[in-house]
Amino acid sequence: AIDAKVNKLLAGMTLEEKVGQMTQVTLDAVITTDDKKVTTEPHTISDAKLREAILKYHVGSILNTSGRPYSREEWHTFISTIQNMAAKDRLKIPVIYGIDAIHGMNYTIGGTLFPQEIALAATFNPDLAYKTGEITAYETRASYIPWNFSPVLDLGKSPLWPRIYETFGEDPFVAKTMGAAMINGYQGTNVGDRYRVAACMKHYLGYSYPLSGKDRTPAWIPDRYMREYFLPSFRDAVKAGARTVMINSAEINGVPVHSSKYLLTDVLRKELGFTGIAVTDWQDIKYLHDRHHIAATQKEAVQIAVNAGIDMSMVPYDYTFYTYLIQLVKEGAVPMSRINESVKRILTVKYELDLFEHPVGNTADYPKFGSDEFKQASLQAAREAITLLKNNNQTLPLKKGMKVLVTGPTANTMRSLNGGWSYTWQGEKNDEYAAGKNTILEAIQRKIGKDNVVYEAGSTYDALQNADDAAKAAKNCDAIVLCLGELSYTENPGNIDDLNLPQAQLQLAQDLAKTGKPIILVLAEGRPRIVTDADKLSSATVMTYLSGNEGGDALADVLFGDANPSGKLPITYPRYANALVNYYRKATENGNSDDTHGYNPLYEFGHGLSYTTFSYGGLKISKPTLTDAQALTISVNVKNTGGGEGKEAVLLYISDSYASITPDTKRLRGFSKINLKPGESRLVSFTIKASDLAFVNDQSKLVTEPGEFKIQIGDQVKTFNYTNAAFKNTSTGKL
Ligand code: IFM
Repeated sequence: AIDAKVNKLLAGMTLEEKVGQMTQVTLDAVITTDDKKVTTEPHTISDAKLREAILKYHVGSILNTSGRPYSREEWHTFISTIQNMAAKDRLKIPVIYGIDAIHGMNYTIGGTLFPQEIALAATFNPDLAYKTGEITAYETRASYIPWNFSPVLDLGKSPLWPRIYETFGEDPFVAKTMGAAMINGYQGTNVGDRYRVAACMKHYLGYSYPLSGKDRTPAWIPDRYMREYFLPSFRDAVKAGARTVMINSAEINGVPVHSSKYLLTDVLRKELGFTGIAVTDWQDIKYLHDRHHIAATQKEAVQIAVNAGIDMSMVPYDYTFYTYLIQLVKEGAVPMSRINESVKRILTVKYELDLFEHPVGNTADYPKFGSDEFKQASLQAAREAITLLKNNNQTLPLKKGMKVLVTGPTANTMRSLNGGWSYTWQGEKNDEYAAGKNTILEAIQRKIGKDNVVYEAGSTYDALQNADDAAKAAKNCDAIVLCLGELSYTENPGNIDDLNLPQAQLQLAQDLAKTGKPIILVLAEGRPRIVTDADKLSSATVMTYLSGNEGGDALADVLFGDANPSGKLPITYPRYANALVNYYRKATENGNSDDTHGYNPLYEFGHGLSYTTFSYGGLKISKPTLTDAQALTISVNVKNTGGGEGKEAVLLYISDSYASITPDTKRLRGFSKINLKPGESRLVSFTIKASDLAFVNDQSKLVTEPGEFKIQIGDQVKTFNYTNAAFKNTSTGKL
């Protein structure tokens, strides 16, 4: 039925109206500003600018905030004003508004902020990714916005990259499982439901692995490698029905992705079967000319990008894209069929979202916005994310009667719990808008009483600040909670030249260690910064990642034993800045007997302790040989052998003993999170098919080669064989 409506509408559209639909501007382009182009309070939409955008240029989409979050009432005014203007245009096509609600509805005052994706990944619990998505969708629609630029499906392979915290970490299996769960949470079974939003797969493809680690700098990723590691999360997201995709701003192998017909059309559309909207990232068509220098003019940039397969341009300030694209169609440089294809996709999603019938939602339909129920979901996710990396002599949990020094640059700021994309792009207004939420310090004070807590900043992020006072105070305390890490950031402003934490933070750790008091090192950071020397000085080390608005309380629960940690690292924690290796390394990266510089991370992917202990036993494989016709069942018995109830993420790894492409030492192929009472045990089963063993060979083909495979779950190891009579090695032997 939607198809017929779209075709009818499309048939009556002028070229100008069609190209307008493909244009997306930012809120700043239609907002009232003073002479110096500064948005003035209260923020209001300029009638003249909006008329121009919609009645003259027929823009199909608007995005973003203008530098601060808004109340639901403000959003209502904005969106109603925009949709009322759209209703005055000849065809009355509603505008699709988009926002980066990447860890909860972060741009609406009072919205629920969840742990960032890297922390969600650490839960190894897809139900939490689903729940997070579902609540975020609810609160985004409660803000009258139907389109969320989330999730990030890029693989967090290199901790140098400043957007690591926006990913589900380094493992393709985790990324695709958590990504699909989050998309299902956003979109539900009917994206047009008033509590669901369209998801956006970001940032297709290969964005996360620039050679330098710096955002939007060149990446060199061979096709085979791209397909093995970077494509699976997008493939599964398309299968999950994601309605939109945003394109990688950077270049791969010298080809900006916005210009790549191979990636945008051949792979995304023909191979993956994606039917939704492909939107550019910020100004990226213009950058094909200005930055990438593959188009001699901006007009040529438009021609290249649209012909490659772009549907919508995040312009975002002016109407040059619109003007050039109309000229290009008239000159025959962009075929009308390409325009029709894009507009059809855009109109289809607008119909699917029910925007034609209900361009603005009903205020009264969202009583749960910012509710305690939603806050509890965020708290639970944060508790399950927090990862206990070290706990010498059971330093943790601390006793509530203890006197504690809380110190360090991340102890008393919401910026280090929420990170970027929180209230503003860089998160610099977290402390203003998350007022009422508890920093780590405030949460500990609430937990054990202010009288039992001494606070000294000790250092800023990169300079000592009264470190002597901190050391003096420590002498009268039973334990030191030393909070190191990062302030908020994202994209280019988050680039670093050195993965080591700034020296001042290490110095603070050293000064405190001299007191002889036990140090609990808390790492509040978006990426694993090098902390090797500080970690040597701690009795216990806890990774909080960016655990959201309830992250302070969740940490206090963990530190004082009201929650049992169950997070596991979704990314390798490196020991040295020059030794960045993922867990699914090659055997030659292990090092050998005369090489002391082999694989030796500070903490491995999948590492995470609990206050209880678990034992694994009785690993069983249902039969010794796997064939294409019959799957295998793998089961293991997990027992809680300690004194308290706890959750355990059971991780199943498979390794291929020999293959035509050097096999990874191991690959995660299943995980399951279970809860066990003391003494309780559970049989955990996984089904493995031949396709789960597949890898991309040197012909870029997904193949499963016969031979021996090793299964590993916890300390349990077994082998089995895969046979396939029809298998022929297609390798040419050529590089
Ligand atoms: O969605 C984001 C993207 O992740 C980075 N550039 C800007 C976009 C829109 O805000």
